[in-house]
Order: sequence, then structure tokens, then C-alpha cells
Amino acid sequence: MRLPEDLQEFLPKGEGWKYERLEKDSEMRKVVERVFDSSTLLTLYRMVNRGSIDRFGGAVSTGKEAHVFRALNREGEYVAVKIYRVATSDFKNMYRYLVADPRFRGIHRDRRQVVYAWASREYKNLQRAGEAGVSSPRALDYEKNVLVMEFLGKEGLPYPRMKDVPPKDPERTFRKLLREVELLYREARLVHADLSEYNVLLSPDPLLIDFSLGTDVSSPMAEEFLRRDLSNLSRFFRKQGASVPSVEELLAVVKGEG
Ligand SMILES: Nc1ncnc2c1ncn2[C@@H]1O[C@H](COP(=O)(O)OP(=O)(O)O)[C@@H](O)[C@H]1O
Ligand SMILES: [Mg+2]
Repeated sequence: MRLPEDLQEFLPKGEGWKYERLEKDSEMRKVVERVFDSSTLLTLYRMVNRGSIDRFGGAVSTGKEAHVFRALNREGEYVAVKIYRVATSDFKNMYRYLVADPRFRGIHRDRRQVVYAWASREYKNLQRAGEAGVSSPRALDYEKNVLVMEFLGKEGLPYPRMKDVPPKDPERTFRKLLREVELLYREARLVHADLSEYNVLLSPDPLLIDFSLGTDVSSPMAEEFLRRDLSNLSRFFRKQGASVPSVEELLAVVKGEG
């Protein structure tokens, strides 16, 4: 892929992402092509024009469906830019999860539309979580397959995932997390649906990330998702030596029936 001269600056400048290297390194070129297709570059370009992104930094994470980059916005603050891949994502699986959510019931089974809806769902979920006071990244901007959110970390380095740096006081962290799940359920009317030690950052207080599966509580799947979230957390915290009530008890606490 030859990028137009004025779009080259959008390439992440972290290690291994130098434009000169891309010409030589076909593997790296493939990665870049998969993420930065021409439509995505134009979306980033518009985001630069409105100041949500000013300078692109390096890659933070490469996931199954999305890549996360750090960037600076016009105010000079770090932001996290999550770019969902259009060409190589498992959109059939994404579609299944989307239509389980009443908000996206009518979505067409079209690759591009599904991936765009996925990014918009994460954005809307982050907004709702934020309004409810859940500790999560502030939603800043989104368009098509690109989401811009507050960067959770220090000087462009994300806070560690709970999986990588286990909490010092597991019981206290568990209580705080349960409170976040409760706020999310009762105030934001959402179930995270992908909650585990992989999607919690410790600052050292727990912060929830990765809201792309977040589902409205009115979904017929909501209870099953909530049960799964709670049992993931129970499993992790039991391994950390915390004493944790049963999933049934936790469910009652979150729903306010306890
Ligand atoms: N808002 C954020 N601030 C800082 N780092 C983030 C942010 N969102 C994601 N990350 C980093 O990117 C990684 C992957 O993000 P996540 O949303 O979980 O995507 P995936 O769908 O690939 O699991 C996280 O583990 C974290 O290190
Ligand atoms: Mg994740």
C-alpha cells in the first residue's frame, strides 16, 4: 500500500511502525493494510480536522477485532484510539451479539454495517457508563469503525490489566468492582458481558474497559451475561484468596434484591 503523502503521518510512530520499514517489511505492511484501509484513513483524517486526534502515537494493543493506539488530541491530552478492523473481523459472531441487544435488533447482516454498529455500541455504552459514574474511559468521539476515548494510564502507558498485576488487597478490589457492576446495572442499565481480569485496569482502583459487548438490561440475554461476568470475577478473586459469595448472592446484590 502506498499512502498518500499527507496521510503518512497517521501511521503509528511506535517501534516497528516506521513508514520506511513498511516498504521493506511485508508482514508489517499487511498489518497496516488490515487496520488502515482507505476508508479508515479518511475517518482518522476527519477526526484530526475536528481535533479529537492531533498526533498519532504507537500501538498499545492488537486484539481479535480491534487495535488500540495512543494519540494526543488538540488539547494535548492522551487519548486511546480503538480501530475495529473491517476486512478481517469475525462479523458473523459480532452480528449474533448485536441482535441480542434491543438497541441493535434491526441491524443488517452486512460486514461494514456490523463493524460500524459495533464501534457505535461501544461508544454509546461508554457514554451511559460515564453518566452513571462508572469508572471507565470517557467517550470522546466516534465515527464508522473508529472510537476515541479517554486514555487510562500515565504518560501514554496504560494502567496494567488486573490479569497482569493482581490486586494487592483482593477483597477490597472485589468490593469496588462489584460496586461498579452494580452502578452499571442499576444506573446505566447495562451488563458489561465481557467482564474478566482482562478488561479491568488497576489504577490501582479498578477501571472497566472494553464495552463493545455491553448489552441493555432489557435484552433476554442480559441475565445470562451478568451471571457470566460475576462468575468470571468470582473465579479470579477466589484464586487471589478472597472469600467471595456465591454467584446467586452476587446477582441479588447487583440487582438490588439482596
Ligand atoms: N481507554 C484506554 N486507555 C488506555 N489503554 C486502553 C484503553 N482502552 C484499551 N486500552 C488498552 O488496550 C487493550 C485492549 O483494549 P480492549 O478494549 O480490551 O480491546 P480488545 O477488544 O482487543 O480486548 C487493553 O488491555 C489496554 O491495555
Ligand atoms: Mg479486551
